Amino acid sequence: MREIFRALRRAGYQLLERLPGSPSALSLAHDAQKYWEDPAQTAFQSNSHWKGSGGLREEVWSELGRPHVQLLQEYMKIRGQSAPLERIIEWGCGGGANAVHFAPLAKSFVGVDVSSASLDECENVLRSVGQDNFSRLLVDVSEPEKSAEDLIATADVFLCTYVFELLPSQEYGQRILDLAYKLLRPGGFAIIQIKYQTHERRTQSRKWGYRRNLANMTTYPIDDFWRRAETAAFTPRYVSLRPKDNLVDDERYAYFILEKSGPAISELADAHNVDGGTSWRRYA
Ligand SMILES: C[S@@+](CC[C@H](N)C(=O)[O-])C[C@H]1O[C@@H](n2cnc3c(N)ncnc32)[C@H](O)[C@@H]1O
Repeated sequence: MREIFRALRRAGYQLLERLPGSPSALSLAHDAQKYWEDPAQTAFQSNSHWKGSGGLREEVWSELGRPHVQLLQEYMKIRGQSAPLERIIEWGCGGGANAVHFAPLAKSFVGVDVSSASLDECENVLRSVGQDNFSRLLVDVSEPEKSAEDLIATADVFLCTYVFELLPSQEYGQRILDLAYKLLRPGGFAIIQIKYQTHERRTQSRKWGYRRNLANMTTYPIDDFWRRAETAAFTPRYVSLRPKDNLVDDERYAYFILEKSGPAISELADAHNVDGGTSWRRYA
């Protein structure tokens, strides 16, 4: 009975979506903003990957960013690059589970988030491990491009994990891909994780009920995301899959490495010194 009720409700929402003026990407963006800007929301700390009680167990939190930083280091090795990089931007930095691994590898680490509380948390955990190269950017869900315009062409690496599935729609995801491309310097690259779709219906984007479905709001077939990256002018170089993610008890993650063509970052080292790229700056 419960299942039938659920199916009817889902069908109702899906029908509503197709009607003119229905819960559109715009209202999902509004719901997303409402959820992430309020730390009193249900499961806010665990959904934002904060460390400790209310968030993720410390053992899980400290492991979360490790495979991501390994991806970065392996790819840098392939390209003959070495740390420190000038700037890493993390889109959706949450409670700093990536930041503690990535910030030591760059002169400037910029954490971007829609949640001011998570930016505070990220800054605090970085301070607690002696990292003082953190800058923050608070973005508005509906205007990411405007929020980030000061960062155009400043990043060597754009990092985004456990975020694309929370975005309001695939179209919004395309905006973030386009923006990632613009935020990178020529020769820079993005590491972006998505949740992928399979042939199973349950793996498709939910598109409704932001709060209850946020972890499955937006998913992509793997080849579709590859093409979307190309639409953003990226050259996709690599994709790796994690069908089961034991750390967060979730599934179907794909990591893409996407390049912005141009000279290798090492060749740009002198050019970088023109704008410094290292000065400590607060974006919010
Ligand atoms: C699951 S946490 C991931 C944190 C971190 N990236 C990690 O891998 O541990 C998702 C984060 O994305 C942020 N977020 C949600 N929607 C966003 C958006 N449209 N733009 C930027 N950040 C967003 C949330 O506030 C939250 O901090």
